[in-house]
Amino acid sequence: MSSVPVISLRDVTKVYSLPAGDVVALDHVSLDIMEGEFVAIMGPSGSGKTTLLNQIGSLDVPTSGDLFIAGKNIGEMNDDELTDMRRDTIGYIFQKFNLIPLLTVYENVEYPLILKYGKRDTTGRPIELLKMVGLEGPMLEHKPTEISGGQQQRVAIARALVNDPKILLCDEPTGNLDTKTSKQIMDILTDLNRQGRTIVMVTHDPETATYAHRTIVIRDGRVDP
Ligand SMILES: Nc1ncnc2c1ncn2[C@@H]1O[C@H](COP(=O)(O)OP(=O)(O)OP(=O)(O)O)[C@@H](O)[C@H]1O
Ligand SMILES: [Mg+2]
Repeated sequence: MSSVPVISLRDVTKVYSLPAGDVVALDHVSLDIMEGEFVAIMGPSGSGKTTLLNQIGSLDVPTSGDLFIAGKNIGEMNDDELTDMRRDTIGYIFQKFNLIPLLTVYENVEYPLILKYGKRDTTGRPIELLKMVGLEGPMLEHKPTEISGGQQQRVAIARALVNDPKILLCDEPTGNLDTKTSKQIMDILTDLNRQGRTIVMVTHDPETATYAHRTIVIRDGRVDP
């Protein structure tokens, strides 16, 4: 692990304005995550975990404060720069897998490459990554509904890795999985971290959090000191 922050939040506040009033989902959050770190984010339901992950992933913009990814201030990037940064630097793994139902396992993993290069893959990378997460053979032609939850999560991990991101963001990556499958997924994430990828993982499960180097606890939008 290096001592260079790859993610920095400075006084980040996120307010959702609703007809019933404002919801302060993040309240002046400042934190640094180092390159190569494996961090767990824990806290009660509604405390702001997903909101925090969405700001880090630049899927959403802070109401105020500054966010730096790989040394760059997100607030100073234009739309094209943001899109490129999201695509090339960050991989997302969601609790509900978010696979595209009409595409096969293989096509789901290939898809980000088609978006990036505008053509079908010829490098074999999707197959390589699927093999790494334990999927090969006829399975690759199945649709997401035709495989198990654990297998879907492996596909989602392979897809998140296809553009070789430095940072992996995971929201409850084992939330829908049984204990044995959860352990397999956590072993894959641990390997990816050992290869140097920075991992930020939201979990409500203390057992899952033990895989991380450090746990950040968030309550009512505030990070515990
Ligand atoms: N798009 C939105 N519009 C309005 N309010 C929102 C929105 N997203 C989240 N919130 C509110 O912001 C607060 C934090 O929500 P968030 O989803 O970050 O919680 P969480 O810690 O991920 O919870 P959980 O463990 O249940 O997933 C909650 O009060 C929630 O109702
Ligand atoms: Mg959440």
